[in-house]
Amino acid sequence: MPSVVITGANRGLGLEFTRQFLATGWTVHAGVRRPAQAANLAALADAESLRLNIHAIDLSDFVSIERFAAGLGDAPIDLLINNAGIMDVGASDFSEKNRHSIQVLGLLDHEAWAEVFRTNVLGTTSLTEALLPHLAAGKDRKIVMISSIMGSITACATGSFPPGGGLYLYRSTKAALNMVTRNMAADLARGGFTVIAVNPGWVRTDMGGADAMFDPAISVGNMIAMITGATTADNGSFISHDGARLPW
Ligand SMILES: NC(=O)c1ccc[n+]([C@@H]2O[C@H](COP(=O)([O-])OP(=O)(O)OC[C@H]3O[C@@H](n4cnc5c(N)ncnc54)[C@H](OP(=O)(O)O)[C@@H]3O)[C@@H](O)[C@H]2O)c1
Repeated sequence: MPSVVITGANRGLGLEFTRQFLATGWTVHAGVRRPAQAANLAALADAESLRLNIHAIDLSDFVSIERFAAGLGDAPIDLLINNAGIMDVGASDFSEKNRHSIQVLGLLDHEAWAEVFRTNVLGTTSLTEALLPHLAAGKDRKIVMISSIMGSITACATGSFPPGGGLYLYRSTKAALNMVTRNMAADLARGGFTVIAVNPGWVRTDMGGADAMFDPAISVGNMIAMITGATTADNGSFISHDGARLPW
């Protein structure tokens, strides 16, 4: 059975990734901040208890990352989905209303910015580093960074959807994550790894809000088809859920 580590599996896209990978026979290591409060995930464990392993992983707490990696022993991991991410500290809502009223130039909260950076970039990179031996021992050697078109400098500069402006904390951390992806792809290419950044589209989750375009099941189904079909030829690519190549 192939195995996958998924962060942020408590709700939203991470929970849907977990559901769909379990349904297709994968062994899932699901990371959540507070396992005791992950009721929706626990419900999946009831149905698929043998292949679902729930772990405490808080990306802002590097000790929890080291503890998780050590707890895996020498188990091989085929695929890492770095899904967990935040848009802000506290409010986390992409709705049209919020999008133009938070993270506005001149009113930026720099402490919150550092916290978003710690989770989206440092924690994600730290977890990936900690799992490299496990991924090297796996068959697929795939690392997926769940990024966003909001992290594309080209999309921001050309003013295509979404238009540039605002959302400094979120955009800058996803742009940094994109650079980590591209750089890691260069470092790991000779080891036969496939490292990609993936844009899920605008999805109806707590972060995406009710106005978003896609149902989580559609976005995640598209992403899984694309990720499982990706090969080393895709190493270092930025890809949308529907398979379209995105500009950095
Ligand atoms: N939804 C969209 O439209 C959209 C668009 C583009 C990109 N994305 C990206 O897709 C990913 C998933 O987004 P989503 O829509 O599913 O968001 P969501 O509904 O807000 O869920 C975020 C998940 O991340 C977890 N998380 C937050 N901080 C964490 C930390 N420090 N350590 C570990 N886990 C943490 C949350 O755990 P708790 O439940 O404990 O808070 C939750 O499970 C994110 O990286 C996001 O940036 C989403």
